[in-house]
Amino acid sequence: MRTRPLGSSGIQASVIAMGTWAIGGWMWGGSDEDDAIRAIHAALDRGINLFDTAPIYGFGHSELLVGKALKDRRDKAIIATKCGMVCNTRAGELKMRSTASGPSEHGHVEVYIYNHPESIRREVEDSLARLQTDRIDLYQTHWQEGVTPIEETMGALMRLKEQGKIRAIGVCNASVAQMQRYRSVGPLDSDQEKYSMLDRKLDAEQAPQSQAQWCSKNNAAILAYSPLVLGLLTGAATPDRVYAEGDLRRTHKRFTVENRTRIQALLARFQPIAARHSCTLGQLVIAWTIAQPGITHALVGARTQAQIAENAKGGEITLSQKDLHEMNEALKGFELVM
Ligand SMILES: NC(=O)c1ccc[n+]([C@@H]2O[C@H](COP(=O)([O-])OP(=O)(O)OC[C@H]3O[C@@H](n4cnc5c(N)ncnc54)[C@H](OP(=O)(O)O)[C@@H]3O)[C@@H](O)[C@H]2O)c1
Repeated sequence: MRTRPLGSSGIQASVIAMGTWAIGGWMWGGSDEDDAIRAIHAALDRGINLFDTAPIYGFGHSELLVGKALKDRRDKAIIATKCGMVCNTRAGELKMRSTASGPSEHGHVEVYIYNHPESIRREVEDSLARLQTDRIDLYQTHWQEGVTPIEETMGALMRLKEQGKIRAIGVCNASVAQMQRYRSVGPLDSDQEKYSMLDRKLDAEQAPQSQAQWCSKNNAAILAYSPLVLGLLTGAATPDRVYAEGDLRRTHKRFTVENRTRIQALLARFQPIAARHSCTLGQLVIAWTIAQPGITHALVGARTQAQIAENAKGGEITLSQKDLHEMNEALKGFELVM
């Protein structure tokens, strides 16, 4: 497995990272603890050392599972978690209501984006306890809000770094202007953005001043999240698949039967390229993602050992210019019905 640096932190992280949103269960129709732990161990065995989680993923459940799975292998793993999505306040900005995103066994909750120093100082202690560790390797603000000055947020993060509680600082879902404000206070090592074949806002031709451009100029990693579009691009999202109660894909506009049918037709065009590499469609999509300029790491979600083993191999495939050209031609003009 290839590794690339997380900015200037000195941390080398595998180009394929394991995303652990789904194993948190909430919004994904539940999760199986044993499967999740086996998947995390399988990831490490396949050379994946970067694990991305967040307190909001299953309201702490994802962090608890990551902590449980890695406590005996802590030195082999790079743990990335986040702060700033909280349910214990009405300060900051309202991000979502649980009822709008599927039922929650935690009842009706309102999730706020809140990056205030005091709140972050509380959150980091809770995350360290759930993760059963004394340090977080990469600590990221999960979303950005306009209430807390970014300089104050970054000041608090820098203090946590001085205290040895976190090793590197990252952001998610941030604009270039916001990243510049973080960087005016201290080193920013990564940005996590949604990026896939269907989410191309980081591409240079679409956004010459994109986060990806900024990150490569400023020595920060770009972690692409949801590269499989919540599983849509693996081939497993067939038109007849029924998603469980509480799985956000049940009512997701990209997952209508019509859209899943369109995706299958797109994937059929990739099949000859996958055959050339003796790989699955999911692996081909992952290989395409990390071949894109500016994308340093792909955060791929998985719930099982088999899925993560398959995904890890996607990091070992090198696509030729011909492969990339053929895939990009197939993508030209491709649209889902929204
Ligand atoms: N910073 C942010 O705001 C943000 C937002 C979203 C995600 N993220 C991070 O990015 C990670 C990845 O994104 P994601 O989980 O949204 O979506 P994703 O990686 O695009 O898709 C993950 C889903 O695809 C399916 N899948 C994965 N591997 C498969 C395989 N080999 N064969 C068949 N199906 C497979 C699984 O769902 P099923 O098995 O249920 O089909 C899995 O849960 C998250 O876990 C999280 O760490 C961050």
